Amino acid sequence: MKEEKGNIFTVFDEIMSRSEKEQTLQQKARVIWLTGLSGSGKTTIAKGLERALYDEGYFTKLLDGDNVRAGINNNLSFSAEDRVENIRRISEVAKLFVEGGIITIASFVSPTNDLRNMARDIIGEDDFILVHVNTPLEVCEKRDVKGLYAKARLGEIPNFTGISAPFDTPIQPAITVSTENQSIKDSVDFVMSALQEYLNLPSN
Ligand code: ADX
Repeated sequence: MKEEKGNIFTVFDEIMSRSEKEQTLQQKARVIWLTGLSGSGKTTIAKGLERALYDEGYFTKLLDGDNVRAGINNNLSFSAEDRVENIRRISEVAKLFVEGGIITIASFVSPTNDLRNMARDIIGEDDFILVHVNTPLEVCEKRDVKGLYAKARLGEIPNFTGISAPFDTPIQPAITVSTENQSIKDSVDFVMSALQEYLNLPSN
């Protein structure tokens, strides 16, 4: 069946189904959405997760803030408006991967509950697993891996999350992981075990 909307003809039932691909890959496709401050450890955990999932036979794709902003979203700033567009596009891309049966790890500051809700709405409630990388601002600022907090304090970076732009505490994330007093491996192991119930196909 073709559906026409404003001269756009979409085809849905002619393309191969997601469930066939999930069967081949023996996994449930989901979006694992990591939110947290800059420097909280999102990318580090995302990379560790991707490796750990791969080692257990899962097929994944990692989407990460700095990379996506260097490519598909390289025309976007950090204004509130552009952050909406950033997260909207990423959510649509993540949804395409999920439709291909792929477990998608999305690692983005996504600083407000409105942004996270938009991502959840686009991706679909059942496919969206929100993980809060819960590292306090003081710790992120002390780490200052990219030197951005120092610049933000000097007023050299406008709208910097946590300094001059908001970061809402996530409401009821599926998983909350700490990075403060444990090793990277411990944080990754913790998220991996919490994820098991979301990713496995029922055995038949
Ligand atoms: S989001 O807020 O739109 O979700 P995103 O995850 O894509 O942010 O990008 C955040 C990364 O961009 C940070 O890790 C940091 O390296 C960099 N960055 C540069 N300027 C800012 C800023 N004003 N606020 C937050 N992050 C910034």
